[in-house]
Amino acid sequence: MRAQWNSRVGFILAAAGSAVGLGNIWRFPNMVAEGGGGAFLIMYLFFVAVIGAPLLMTEISLGRLGRASAVQAYTQHNKNAAFLGIIPLLAALGIIVFYYVVAGWSLSFSWEYLTNLTNAEFTKPNFLKTILGTDPATGEQAFLGIWTPVFWGGVFCLSSLVIVMLGVNKGLEIANKILMPMLLLIIILMVFKAITINTGIGSSIDGLVYYLKPDFSAITGKVMVSAMSQAFFSLSLASAAIMIYGSYLDDGANIPKASATIAGMDTLIAVLAGCFTLPLVFAFGLENVSCDINGTIETVKGSAACLAQAGTVTSIKVDGGGGLAFIVLAEAFQSMPKIFGFLFFFLLTIAALTSYISLAEPMTAWLHDTFKIPRNMGAPLTIITAFLLGIPVSLSVANGTKLKWPWQEKPTDLIDFVDGFVTQLAIPIAAFGMAIFCSWVIWGKVKAEMQKGSNISNGFANFLRLLIGILCPVVIGVVLLVGTGIIKL
Ligand code: TRP
Repeated sequence: MRAQWNSRVGFILAAAGSAVGLGNIWRFPNMVAEGGGGAFLIMYLFFVAVIGAPLLMTEISLGRLGRASAVQAYTQHNKNAAFLGIIPLLAALGIIVFYYVVAGWSLSFSWEYLTNLTNAEFTKPNFLKTILGTDPATGEQAFLGIWTPVFWGGVFCLSSLVIVMLGVNKGLEIANKILMPMLLLIIILMVFKAITINTGIGSSIDGLVYYLKPDFSAITGKVMVSAMSQAFFSLSLASAAIMIYGSYLDDGANIPKASATIAGMDTLIAVLAGCFTLPLVFAFGLENVSCDINGTIETVKGSAACLAQAGTVTSIKVDGGGGLAFIVLAEAFQSMPKIFGFLFFFLLTIAALTSYISLAEPMTAWLHDTFKIPRNMGAPLTIITAFLLGIPVSLSVANGTKLKWPWQEKPTDLIDFVDGFVTQLAIPIAAFGMAIFCSWVIWGKVKAEMQKGSNISNGFANFLRLLIGILCPVVIGVVLLVGTGIIKL
């Protein structure tokens, strides 16, 4: 018999656990900061509501309808539709390969804080040493050299494997029931601390204002496209994971309501992550300020530094990406009790863990449905393969390997290279295929599945079909064309 969630709360927490991840805490705050603060936020919320949530309902319905892995969920309706299930599987594989690398950095940082809580000499983990294996400035080597980040990634993968091996109820469900409330608690604590902190350097409220105040001039076509692909990525859409979680869901569960709850929780955590990240950056004066001093523009750290030179602030930019969490925030934690550094990186690790355990499911289920490989062999096979494929990705950060896709302007490191494949190509194509297939080929069944256990009217269902069958493909089409550079914005 196929596994089922013990409770609906178990399912919702597991799906939210999949959605809430590095994308929320590591990627989102920086995207908001770069995309015009509140203006980006409004746009993001709009995309989550009109595209993300309806597609989430569709994917969960397709999963429950099929009660099978992603490929079989399509082929049971149409023999030629296997590719629609293979693309999200490839997306999942892409994510599983680079995701653990960053999660491993995070784990190593939290470990360093934890083991140095009372060590007065310890200021912060050495980013370059931890992530590159050696500190280029001093030549000092980490304990395993370039294998240090691989080691931590391995510890992370092993932890996920243990949970996945315990199965759907004893592993996934229980882990999420414990880890998700913990995550919410830590995040609320961080927001409280960030907003009330008094550093004497800068003001955290300025950071909050910068984060939330809409600057509509910053919104370009590119920013809109990144808001859309961030919405897909953050909701774990079109990467076979949510579909497989849906396949473990009982028939009485209310899919529209569950989807709205999952999308709401994911968005809440992302917004809250921004509510402590940017205030901390500003409180410690770590934002890059273009400062006009008697007509010459200089870049300084923090508005206070600009004002001290009698300059005027012309623009503010916050360093994004990996650097935001691992360099900028680590800098801020340096002047706070070490427990906060530990809590933040532990939070990031938990968020990544609850996502990672959902990433192994699609492959495990596919190996089971296609080759009859049992779960207790499929899961280790999936995670070990992902770990091995990720080793070059991890090492490339240290040795500076860069590659580029034809549509990208500049070569990027292997993490962004794989990320580019997933977010700019595989997820949009998979989402496009799913939207078209579910609204035009098997709509009757999908609609019945959405109405099972919920009381949505035919009128509302038809409205959803309009969103899924027309608006989604158009919007995703634009994401694809812009993402791959066919249309230049
Ligand atoms: N939503 C995850 C995050 O925000 C990333 C992600 C995308 C994902 N697709 C997924 C995680 C599938 C697990 C399964 O970090």
